[in-house]
Amino acid sequence: MSQSLNVEPIGFVRTGHEMKFQAGHQPDPKAIERNVIELLPGKQFELAVEDLEGFDRIWLVWWFDKNTTWRPRAMPPRGPAKRRGVFATRSPHRPNPIGLTCVDLVKVEGLNLVVGPLDLLDGTPVLDIKPYLTTVDCFPDSSLGWVAEVENLLSQPPPYDVQLSEKAKAQLEWLKSEWKVDFWERAQSILGYDPTHHRTRRILQIPDGRMRLGFGPWRIYYNIDEQRVTVDEIRQGYTLDKLERFDEIPHRDALRAFVDRWESE
Ligand SMILES: C[S@@+](CC[C@H](N)C(=O)[O-])C[C@H]1O[C@@H](n2cnc3c(N)ncnc32)[C@H](O)[C@@H]1O
Repeated sequence: MSQSLNVEPIGFVRTGHEMKFQAGHQPDPKAIERNVIELLPGKQFELAVEDLEGFDRIWLVWWFDKNTTWRPRAMPPRGPAKRRGVFATRSPHRPNPIGLTCVDLVKVEGLNLVVGPLDLLDGTPVLDIKPYLTTVDCFPDSSLGWVAEVENLLSQPPPYDVQLSEKAKAQLEWLKSEWKVDFWERAQSILGYDPTHHRTRRILQIPDGRMRLGFGPWRIYYNIDEQRVTVDEIRQGYTLDKLERFDEIPHRDALRAFVDRWESE
């Protein structure tokens, strides 16, 4: 038996998620989102999707193409800062970087499948599609393992009170209205449940004594006082030199405008 197997994408997904922080850890069932799986032409996939439209949900098998490394243990972003065996997690860093997502199927339009909320980045290769069957895929009473503790924690009110400075509030409003960049709801939840150091959550203490939380290129600076978190300001994470030199930086226009508006005082 050969030690390697070949797979080829059947298509690629078009989502609005350019950067990892924009894609949820799992699809957000509350999101009003339409995404498209574009199947490749010339492979008879028109025939392969026949009869799919009758299913409400489908499984997508896909490839974490933006990852190159893996570790046998991973620190999940939710819950206590504890490493878990990678096979007991949904970590994107796996020996075979295969993702599995159950998604709403909205409609089939030729080689395009219109689907609901997804946790895939734009351009992710899709390897396979299967119908989701409640009769064989659904076991709602199954044990959740270590995730039960996390779900229980997140079902309680957050132990930290999160406040915004006037500056941070104005910056977040500006990012949302001018550039449709919005990470505040997620940030508020992360900071409310546990604002302390956590590598996967991208939280660290910086030399000036403040804490910093990262979302893609955006940085939230804050202080913790007992059970209160006060967000001081938002900054962007690139040096001016890099912003000028690298055309391919995602959200580059927003980042440059942010520097002009908020960081050139
Ligand atoms: C936690 S994983 C879970 C994925 C899937 N539901 C599963 O269980 O296999 C989802 C995250 O993978 C990351 N991601 C999405 N598409 C990716 C890609 N093409 N390459 C690398 N990482 C990706 C995003 O950061 C997203 O939040």
